[in-house]
Amino acid sequence: MSNNWSVSLLVSVVLALTDLTQSFQPLFVSDGNSTSHRDITQMAILRKTAEVCRDIAVAEGKDFILTVDNSLTVDQVQEACSFTDNSISLLSSVLFHISIANMYFSNANVDLASMLSDEHHFDGETFQKGRDLITKGVSAVKASVKLENFITGRWTLGRVCHTLQDFYSHSNWVELGNTSPYNALIKPDQIIENVAGPNISTCRNCTGESCDNNILPDILQQGLLTSGYFNLISSEKPDGKCSHGGSFDQTSKRDPVGGINKDQNGSSHGSLHHEAADLAVNATVELLEDIRLAIGDKNFLRLMGLSQSSVLCFVIDTTGSMSDDIAEAKRVSFNIIDRKRGTQQEPSAYILVPFNDPGFGPLLITTNADKFKESINELTASGGGDVPELCLSGLQLALTAAPPSSEIFVFTDAPAKDADLKSTITALIESTKSEVTFMLTDVLTSRRKRALNQADAQLYRDLARASGGQAIEVSKSDLVQATSVIEDSLQSAVVTVFQIMMNPGKPDNFTFTIDRSLRNITIYITGTPSLSFNLTSSAGVSQTSSESSGPLASLSLAGNLRRLTLNNDNETGLWEISVDSNDPYSLKVAGQSSLNFIYNLLEAHEGVHADFFLKEGRPLSGGNATLLVTVAGCDSVKIPEVTLYDSSGATEITGALQSLGGSNFLVTFNEIPAGEFVVRLKGEESSSSSRSTPSSFQRQGSTQIKTSSISVTAQANSTNIEPGSTVSIPFTVSTTTSGVVNKTATGTFIVRATNDRSFDSTSPGSVTIETDSDGKANGTVTLTAPDSAVSGTDVTLTIEAEDAATAGTNYIVLRFSVASEVTDVNRPVCQEVSTSTNCSTSSLCDSSQWIFVANLTDGINGTGIERVTIRKGSGTLNTTTVVGPGGENITVASYRSSCCADRVELTVVDNVGNVGICVGQVRQSTTVAPVTAAHVTPNNTTSTGGDSLSTTLWVWTTVVALTLWK
Ligand SMILES: *[C@@H]1O[C@H](CO)[C@@H](O)[C@H](O)[C@H]1NC(C)=O
Ligand SMILES: *[C@@H]1O[C@H](CO)[C@@H](O)[C@H](O)[C@H]1NC(C)=O
Ligand SMILES: *[C@@H]1O[C@H](CO)[C@@H](O)[C@H](O)[C@H]1NC(C)=O
Ligand SMILES: *[C@@H]1O[C@H](CO)[C@@H](O)[C@H](O)[C@H]1NC(C)=O
Repeated sequence: MSNNWSVSLLVSVVLALTDLTQSFQPLFVSDGNSTSHRDITQMAILRKTAEVCRDIAVAEGKDFILTVDNSLTVDQVQEACSFTDNSISLLSSVLFHISIANMYFSNANVDLASMLSDEHHFDGETFQKGRDLITKGVSAVKASVKLENFITGRWTLGRVCHTLQDFYSHSNWVELGNTSPYNALIKPDQIIENVAGPNISTCRNCTGESCDNNILPDILQQGLLTSGYFNLISSEKPDGKCSHGGSFDQTSKRDPVGGINKDQNGSSHGSLHHEAADLAVNATVELLEDIRLAIGDKNFLRLMGLSQSSVLCFVIDTTGSMSDDIAEAKRVSFNIIDRKRGTQQEPSAYILVPFNDPGFGPLLITTNADKFKESINELTASGGGDVPELCLSGLQLALTAAPPSSEIFVFTDAPAKDADLKSTITALIESTKSEVTFMLTDVLTSRRKRALNQADAQLYRDLARASGGQAIEVSKSDLVQATSVIEDSLQSAVVTVFQIMMNPGKPDNFTFTIDRSLRNITIYITGTPSLSFNLTSSAGVSQTSSESSGPLASLSLAGNLRRLTLNNDNETGLWEISVDSNDPYSLKVAGQSSLNFIYNLLEAHEGVHADFFLKEGRPLSGGNATLLVTVAGCDSVKIPEVTLYDSSGATEITGALQSLGGSNFLVTFNEIPAGEFVVRLKGEESSSSSRSTPSSFQRQGSTQIKTSSISVTAQANSTNIEPGSTVSIPFTVSTTTSGVVNKTATGTFIVRATNDRSFDSTSPGSVTIETDSDGKANGTVTLTAPDSAVSGTDVTLTIEAEDAATAGTNYIVLRFSVASEVTDVNRPVCQEVSTSTNCSTSSLCDSSQWIFVANLTDGINGTGIERVTIRKGSGTLNTTTVVGPGGENITVASYRSSCCADRVELTVVDNVGNVGICVGQVRQSTTVAPVTAAHVTPNNTTSTGGDSLSTTLWVWTTVVALTLWK
């Protein structure tokens, strides 16, 4: 796919602002030949993920043919990593795409949230502080993973990568001639050395336009580290120091004039841009390797989002009348677990949130199927009876815990007592793009006082509708037929082809395209009993709603749900369905296919970081909109058509597309529908088979997007909270006209700040835009983590503003993670006790053995050793724990290997994730041991701790073990 840089909007918006940025471009580059943080982050993630998969493949004796370099694509890596299981006939890279996007969006956001902070960008020689940001962030990532909070882990990781990557652009590391990353930046126990002192001049004036030789020769000769100063307003900088450079940087206008940044080709040191970007990729790969060693391969792949399967997520009412529903939730989940366990189709995590009155929770999120079974087994229906329950509070926990684009199932037979959370839940649905399907039992039966009436059920229907999920209303006895939708949602590679929600209902005809990649096509229709329909295939064959098994599909009924399973997947082309009903109804066509898409709303910012950033909250009414669309599972998609479809007005607006390379497209809409709308993608694919005729396809996003004329912005200066501490989040509310802040508007807004962990939080009840305040009202929300909060806990804060006059709302969703200060920054140490061998050259290598014994400790002040694993080597490892002379715990590692392999590397991880590598080696005098699998493992480009292994210490003809830490 060619990078079509010559055309369109991006160029016109951004070219004008070229060279105004203060770091690698956050998301997009304007010159077509520079590398952005997005590129760097994605390349590093793909390389490290592929390496991990390769190591696993080699260990399992499987082939891995992908070449690991900077040109990998998401789909290639997804496919190459899916070798372990043949049970999957269809792969989807959507979840991997989504998690990579989360990481690069959070990376880019550093340029907004911490625009003027030197240490976030290694400006102004803030090496120590910048390094601390990185190593603290890495600890926070490891703590998040420990609690299986992968979403927050990704968010933090993206931010950390930004600072690390900026080092290579903003410092003189490249100019010093370095060709490998600076290790001390990711190792808190190493000293940052050779920094040019505060009084040492580092730069001289550039000569005219050229800054090629502005770093003082002395600095380069002595190998002193420096970075450019940057200031938007003041030209002050210490005497003789280098500047960042570029027209926004005032410091670069005074002596020494000019700058040293390598952000883009056109920057002061732009000729070194590509070297800096390459090093930034390699440095990011090394940081990912450190995290991988600390959390293990399986968790690493989960952190990267390399998953084929969705989560199984239940929110269950546990009051007295729910015992049948609980039994059914149990039956269906046990069935799924027992069939899928150990395959790639096993749910990637299990989430369970019970609710009741007065309580809800606790949230269970686990990858351990047995833990989930145990918890669901322990649910008992009790209490309640005639009071509404805390359904939405439970749902809130599930929405923030589940990965984006999950499907959540809520089981209840009672109205929600916490209906005031409706707008918060809607905000979370829009922000996570998760679908919520309600299993509502016994609506309208008047046996009990607590039964749902129509008005109560409407709340659930509205939420289902906003999310693209369904509100299934069944009797308790029919629930078992309805739960097939749960199994459907857990098939691999589920896609939405077409979906419509009609409220109010009216008879209408709908068409949709079935493409050849689709399998197991299912049509879901909810509506009143009087609803009828007529389905017509592309070949003109019809089937009516009265035929339970017809020429096209078989029909099953459960309460208000009709589920049509198409008989034949092969009839491609345009299908039609006519629905006859005057009551509200919903229609959804789903199937399984690798071909899908993801989208994110963007927002343009001008100024120092002129670029697009992720748009939080609702798009502004009457304005324009920009989407970043990524097509997944297709190497050669022709330029697709992306539209915003509004079902209430039946309007469809087509966006202007610009290819960004790969399968990414920037889509701009000069107007957006006034009502609720969804994103649709139509296109032609010609990849997956040898048949050369391209096949038309369509896909649809499930989330209903709404516009708002209120703008809410907030930026927390830190997203980590220490236990017992409070963060302040300043926010700004304004009203907009045609998407632009109305500077003369006034008004009062009700403010709600809610968090999912019930942490203490303060917020003004309302804010008011006064006259002469530029149309803005400011306020501050605080959030306090209790002393008892555990490191790695995540908390999601939603700040909503509601216009008191019009009742319009908008919101912002912020994620924080609890991170205690890490005092143990030292890696565990390793001391060889003995290495014994009977390896000899006279016998076959596999008939003799060597044994390596080492003492591993985390020192008296360390957090203790958590895990010892074999990183390289095919022998067996035993560990025991003894108490050392100083009272410290010592882990004695004893490694036994056949003489066919002569080396072992052990990964030693302490309780906060510091990683040490312990190396043992045996070598014989006369012959080289035959090569074994352990040696075939392609060498990692990076290794933590093992980098300084010195082969000169090998003693010829004797057996030695090396244990080296730098
Ligand atoms: C991009 O930059 C590289 C390195 O600076 C250069 O070799 C190449 O010719 C450039 N390509 C374009 C299209 O400008
Ligand atoms: C980055 O790592 C790759 C793979 O190890 C290596 O080939 C390349 O030379 C490195 N790049 C730089 C700039 O050091
Ligand atoms: C739907 O299609 C049928 C048959 O083609 C037609 O008779 C009917 O008027 C259409 N209904 C609507 C609402 O367009
Ligand atoms: C379609 O569904 C059936 C049964 O539900 C399942 O066995 C099959 O694997 C599915 N097809 C694909 C392509 O996953």
